[in-house]
Amino acid sequence: MTISLNVNGVIRVVAASADTPLLYVLRDDLDLNAAKYGCGLGQCGACTVHLDGEAIFSCLTPITAAAGRKVTTLEGLGTEEKPSILQQAFIDEQAAQCGYCTAGMIMRAQVLLDRGASPSEAEIREHMQPNLCRCGTHHRIIRAIKRASAILSKQHSKEDAS
Ligand code: FES
Repeated sequence: MTISLNVNGVIRVVAASADTPLLYVLRDDLDLNAAKYGCGLGQCGACTVHLDGEAIFSCLTPITAAAGRKVTTLEGLGTEEKPSILQQAFIDEQAAQCGYCTAGMIMRAQVLLDRGASPSEAEIREHMQPNLCRCGTHHRIIRAIKRASAILSKQHSKEDAS
């Protein structure tokens, strides 16, 4: 079947069977390779992307579930030349070792930051629980999220004051 998807603000039309995981279409048809295949079972978070602003496991999401909804991948957050605040925070904190989990980590963390409030460390830890890092870089990942959150809070207070 032919399915029309809104990916990173661009309408893309793909031919795929209805039960094809969104992850396969992103990687194989649309050349968006940030989201990774880890377990294929919803247990690692390497494949995390946003569907209408919520973090989902794209390995478990059939392509039909994404039709007519907004899909955002890491490629939609920023670029190498102009990374997002959270991407830059991951760079500054060197919050990657092998890097396989990084895109999924950033996408899940972005959802928390998009909610606006400055999350506590406990809230960050709980929110990030579905995403695993086999290299054990979690403490740097937490630091990166806190760094981005602090920058965003400052920006919001400046905006409120003006
Ligand atoms: Fe989707 Fe592991 S690859 S959760």
